[in-house]
Amino acid sequence: MSRKGKNMTTGGGKLAAVAAGFLLAAGFVAGLSTPASACEECKGKYEVEGRKSGYLFSNPETRAIQDDDFANGGMLWVEKGAELWNKVDGKAGKSCASCHGDAEESMKGVYTVYPKYVQELGKLENLEQRINRCREANMGAKAWKWESDDLLAMTTYIGYLSRGMPMNVKIDGPAAPFFEKGKEEYFKRRGQLDMACKHCHYDHAGQYIRADLISEGRGGGAFPAYRLKWQKIGSLHRRFKGCNKQIRAQPYKAGSDEYVNLELFVKWRSRGLPVEVPAVRR
Ligand code: HEC
Ligand code: HEC
Repeated sequence: MSRKGKNMTTGGGKLAAVAAGFLLAAGFVAGLSTPASACEECKGKYEVEGRKSGYLFSNPETRAIQDDDFANGGMLWVEKGAELWNKVDGKAGKSCASCHGDAEESMKGVYTVYPKYVQELGKLENLEQRINRCREANMGAKAWKWESDDLLAMTTYIGYLSRGMPMNVKIDGPAAPFFEKGKEEYFKRRGQLDMACKHCHYDHAGQYIRADLISEGRGGGAFPAYRLKWQKIGSLHRRFKGCNKQIRAQPYKAGSDEYVNLELFVKWRSRGLPVEVPAVRR
C-alpha cells in the first residue's frame, strides 16, 4: 500500500468534495504542513522498513515521559502486575507463578505473537483473553473484567517483559480468514462521518486533527498505554473505541471478535516495531 503524499486519495471530484466536508466535520485542520515524523533522532529504533511507531508522532514532552521509567505512570501497572503474578487466587489455590514460574523467563516474547489463533476456540484470542482463560480454566478464579485495573496490570506486565522485542504476529494458516476480517474493518466506512480507519491513519498520517498529530495508527506494540488524557493506562480496544467515536460510529465491545480481528491487523501493521509497553501517549 503506497501513500500518495499528503493529499486526499479519494477518487473523483464529487466524492472528494463530500469527503472534504466530512473531514472538516471531523475537525481536520486544513493547510497545515507538518513533518511526517517529529523526531528525526529516534527514527532508528521506532521506524522499521518505513513503518513508523506512534512514538515518532508524539510531542517531545510525551516522549520524555515514556523514556523515563520514574516519570512513566504506566510503570505502576507493571509493578502491580508483578505482584498479581505471585498472588494465589481461585479454587485451585494457585498463582500464575505456580505453573509458569519466573515470568521474566516464561513470558518473554509472549506479547509479540498475540492475538493468536486457538484451535479449541476456533478463532483468535488476544492476550487479555488468554490471561482470563488461565484464570478460569487453570485457577478456578473469576475472569477479570475488561479494563479493570487487574487485567490492565497483568497485560501491561506481560507486555513490559517483551519491551524492545519486535512485534511478530502470525497471519497465515488458520489465522488468515480472521486477519482478512480485521483488514476489512480497517477499510470499512462507518458512522455518521462515513469514514474508515484508513482515512485518518493512511491518508492523513502526519496531519493535525484538532490538537492531535495523526500517526500511522500502528500502536501494535504500544498498548496498554498510559494516556495523559485518561490519566491511567488503557487497552488497545479502549483506543479503538475512542477512534470509532471520533467518526460518530457505534464502537464494538472491548474483547469482541470484531476488535480482536482488528487488533491482529493493527499488530501486523506494527510488525518489526519494538514493544513499547507501557508506552505514553497524549
Ligand atoms: C478521524 C480520524 C481517525 C479515525 C477515522 C481513526 N483514528 Fe485512530 N487515531 C486518531 C487520532 C487523532 C489518534 C491519536 C494520535 C495518533 O496516535 O494518531 C489515533 C490513535 C490511534 C491509535 C494509537 C496509535 C499509537 O501509537 O498510540 C491506534 C492503534 C488507532 N488510532 C487505530 C485506529 C483504528 C483501528 C481505527 C478504525 C476503527 C481508527 N484508528 C480510526 C484518529 C483517527
Ligand atoms: C494450573 C496451571 C496454570 C496457571 C495457574 C496459570 N496458567 Fe497460564 N497457561 C497454562 C498452560 C497449560 C498454558 C498453555 C501452555 C502453552 O500454551 O504454552 C498457559 C498459557 C498461558 C499464556 C500463553 C503463553 C503463550 O506462550 O502463548 C499466558 C499469557 C498465560 N498462560 C498467562 C497466565 C497468567 C497471567 C496466569 C495467572 C493469572 C496464569 N497463566 C495461570 C497453565 C497455567
